[in-house]
Amino acid sequence: MKHIRVKDEQEMNTRAAQILIAQVLLKEDAVLGLATGGTPEGVYAKMAEAYKNGSVSFEKVRTVNLDEYVGLNGDHPQSYRYYMEDNLFSKVDIEKENTHLPNGTATDLMKECADYDALVKSLGGVDMQLLGIGNNGHIGFNEPGDAFVMGTNVVTLSQNTIDANARYFDDMSKVPKKALTLGIRGIMSAKKVLLIAGASKRDIIEKAFYGPVTPSVPASILQLHPDAIIISC
Ligand code: PGA
Repeated sequence: MKHIRVKDEQEMNTRAAQILIAQVLLKEDAVLGLATGGTPEGVYAKMAEAYKNGSVSFEKVRTVNLDEYVGLNGDHPQSYRYYMEDNLFSKVDIEKENTHLPNGTATDLMKECADYDALVKSLGGVDMQLLGIGNNGHIGFNEPGDAFVMGTNVVTLSQNTIDANARYFDDMSKVPKKALTLGIRGIMSAKKVLLIAGASKRDIIEKAFYGPVTPSVPASILQLHPDAIIISC
C-alpha cells in the first residue's frame, strides 16, 4: 500500500487523474473501475480536460462502476448512470456500450448481481479501480458489518450512508434505502486500486489503513491489496 498525502483536493484530483490517464496510455482498452460521489467529480473533470486537449483518448476504454441505487433508472438525475454521463462519459470519446453499471431497476436483483460479476470476469477483470471511502469506511456500498461480503450484492444502506447521500435529494424520503454494489472480491480482484479521500475523511483513513483489518471498517481490507495507492489530504 502506498499512501500519498497531498496538500489539498486540487492536488488530489490532479494526482489521481494523472494516474488514471497513465493507465489508459499504457493500455488503450483498459478496464477502469469507476466510483461516484462528491470526491471523484474533480478527477473526472481533469480527465475530461485531458481528453479535450488531446492528451488521451477513451475510445477503447471499458468501464465498470461500483454501484447503483435500487429503484432508480439511468434517466433519474440522482442515479449513478446519470452522474457518470454528466461528469465523464458525455465529455470524452468513450463508447456508451463499453460503459457498465449495475441495473438498479432489474426485476431480478439477485440475477443482476450474478450477471454483473460475470460481466466483470468477461472483461478480463478490472485494471484500475478508483474508489472513494464513506465516513463509515464503506467502499462501493459495502457497509460495515460482521463479515466481508464477497460477491456483488444488494445492500440495505446504513443510516450514516443515507444521511450522507441525502444532500443530493430534495426530500429525505426520496433517498434510496437499497443499492447494488460490487462486492469485496470484485474490488480486491482489481489489478490496481486507487482510493481518494478529501480532508473530511482523515479519521476514517487512519482507521482503515493504520488500524486492524476488520469488516467493521470495510476499506481496511485494502491493506491486503498488493497494488493499492491511497491519495488523501
Ligand atoms: P463522497 O462519497 O465522495 O460523496 O464523500 C464517498 C463514498 O461514499 O464512497
